[in-house]
Amino acid sequence: MSESALWDELQRAAEVVRSKLGARHPSVGVILGSGLGAFADTLTDAVAIPYGELPGFPSSSVVGHSGRLVAGKVGDTQVLAMQGRVHYYEGHALDRVVFPVRTMVALGARTLVITNAAGGVNPSYRPGDLVLIRDHLNMLGESPLRGPNDDRLGPRFPDMTEAYPATLRAFARERARGLGLELAEGVYCALSGPCYETPAEVRMLATLGADLAGMSTVPEVIAAAHMGARVLGISCVTNQAAGLGVGKLSHAEVTETAERIRGTFTRLIADLLAGIGGVP
Ligand code: HPA
Repeated sequence: MSESALWDELQRAAEVVRSKLGARHPSVGVILGSGLGAFADTLTDAVAIPYGELPGFPSSSVVGHSGRLVAGKVGDTQVLAMQGRVHYYEGHALDRVVFPVRTMVALGARTLVITNAAGGVNPSYRPGDLVLIRDHLNMLGESPLRGPNDDRLGPRFPDMTEAYPATLRAFARERARGLGLELAEGVYCALSGPCYETPAEVRMLATLGADLAGMSTVPEVIAAAHMGARVLGISCVTNQAAGLGVGKLSHAEVTETAERIRGTFTRLIADLLAGIGGVP
């Protein structure tokens, strides 16, 4: 796609959303990962737009991801929420995978909370732990920024040094403590999936400095950084990565853990969204 085609497509999607926003001016965006989609239903004064109505948006095939952009309030903060995301393993090109997050940033969401389910590569993690993402490894072998660059969106060679600013992580740790939660911090590694890693791959990831393994988030963070938005990333450790626990991995285990931790995770997300826009 040429650089101006992406820009034009983004303006069209943003315009459709804007036409439904009324007086809402979102400043914070959130991507609701596995098990968290229902949080979008708790936004007040909300308006929901199915992805299918938004030009350029990919359609999600994963069961349980309803695929809507929801605008509404958490406390006094105007929020845009992605209820469902698409993944690289579904077959979408990375520029499609990141199109919804680009739309949120284009609409004014300069701070993003990006959540996911991940396998725990760090042996100290237990299923149900919530971990702040300090940094990432991109092992997708690809970037959503590959191809022509539109300087109106961001620079050709974006800096990634502070893609996950320490200020946002400190804020999240403090808010979590208020809820009685201690959040660890770790490095998230994105893999293409859809099979889970082999035990040998998990040992490799640990050697490379990964604490978490997952199949999302990194393309979205790269696109957000490209557009100058800042990200707070939070993983729900749904399982110990392959070879670290007993027995085999299953999607059922992943969804069960996500479901078990949903109440806690949801309370934390609500608390974070309400205050994060004001973090310097
Ligand atoms: N590996 C990769 N992605 C995942 C995992 C895992 O173990 N668990 C949840 N998403």
